Amino acid sequence: MKVLVTGASGYIGSHACLELLRAGHEVVGFDNLSNSSQTSMDRVRGLARGPLRFEKLDLLDKPGLEKIMALGFDAVMHFAGLKAVGESVEKPDLYRRNNVDGSANLLAAMKTAGCRRLVFSSSCTVYGEVKKNPVDESHPRGAVNPYGRTKLDIEDMCFELARAEKGWRIALLRYFNPVGADAGGRIGEDPHGLPNNLMPFVMQTAVGRREKVRVFGADYPTPDGTGVRDYIHVTDLALGHIAALDRLDVFDGAEAVNLGAGRGYSVLEVIKAASKAAGKDIPYEISPRRPGDSAAIWADPTFAKKKLGWSAARGLGEMCADAWRWQRDNPEGYGA
Ligand code: UD1
Repeated sequence: MKVLVTGASGYIGSHACLELLRAGHEVVGFDNLSNSSQTSMDRVRGLARGPLRFEKLDLLDKPGLEKIMALGFDAVMHFAGLKAVGESVEKPDLYRRNNVDGSANLLAAMKTAGCRRLVFSSSCTVYGEVKKNPVDESHPRGAVNPYGRTKLDIEDMCFELARAEKGWRIALLRYFNPVGADAGGRIGEDPHGLPNNLMPFVMQTAVGRREKVRVFGADYPTPDGTGVRDYIHVTDLALGHIAALDRLDVFDGAEAVNLGAGRGYSVLEVIKAASKAAGKDIPYEISPRRPGDSAAIWADPTFAKKKLGWSAARGLGEMCADAWRWQRDNPEGYGA
């Protein structure tokens, strides 16, 4: 297939481009490079040697979108978006414009070009406050911050579009916590500035860029008191997208599917596994809870298995080993 990838040079987008090429697809990617580096695209080309074209383009550039869509695609994978919860609280308008308006522009350009097949990066954040674990797709939705609201609104836009017009095939993939890197250590997660998420912070500490990890809360009602999340290897996540692409025909309009491993690990378990992978103790200190965090969330991955024939194969040890290889070989990320 010929696939357009938005947010192609970002963490998840770059891994998806790599797996698309490895699966024999033709890829055109774009990104506004606001939180990523074009170097990731050069590295993906080096790893897969397939047809990958890259352009700098922003979702808010409507004529640019129409022009690129006119190249003709079988499907679109839509990763582009802002994802820092704290920033979204400070700048809700920025999040609405980039994520929601940007996605509306993309859908409109797809319609004009006659392409109605989409795989979208949604998030388990759409489940809001967790009522019960594991979380399946029928769990009530809710937004607990402006970032989460944008994912909810984009999902609704897709549901409404698919109801109103025949022919749309949209997979809304709700990611749990993607971590790790391609096993080759050439591409990985390289957040600009101080990492918000746990794994990049842990790895930057292991490599000496940060002094210690702050564990946000050790008084949660979990086995060791620290937050529990469903970590999923980014390669498994990328393969979940390929499975969705292959099976879009069996999607009834727009449908949501969880992409998670189906089990939770605590912050301390992650730090321990990361220390083992890095072969050194990673210093940490217990700090106050981070506002807005939930105690525990993990996925019920049953529907993904049924709908996509996909399940996560890589465990926490492999996630940490691959994340460490990337960080060790690229201590400053792509900027080195
Ligand atoms: C966060 C977002 C989520 C978003 C996802 C993708 C929040 C509340 N949620 O998920 O909406 O979809 O990122 O970017 O921000 N932790 C530490 N120390 C750290 C960092 C994290 O102890 O320095 C803990 C957290 O409290 C949590 C776990 O590690 O228990 C995972 O945190 P993180 O990687 O930020 O992911 P989420 O909060 O699950």
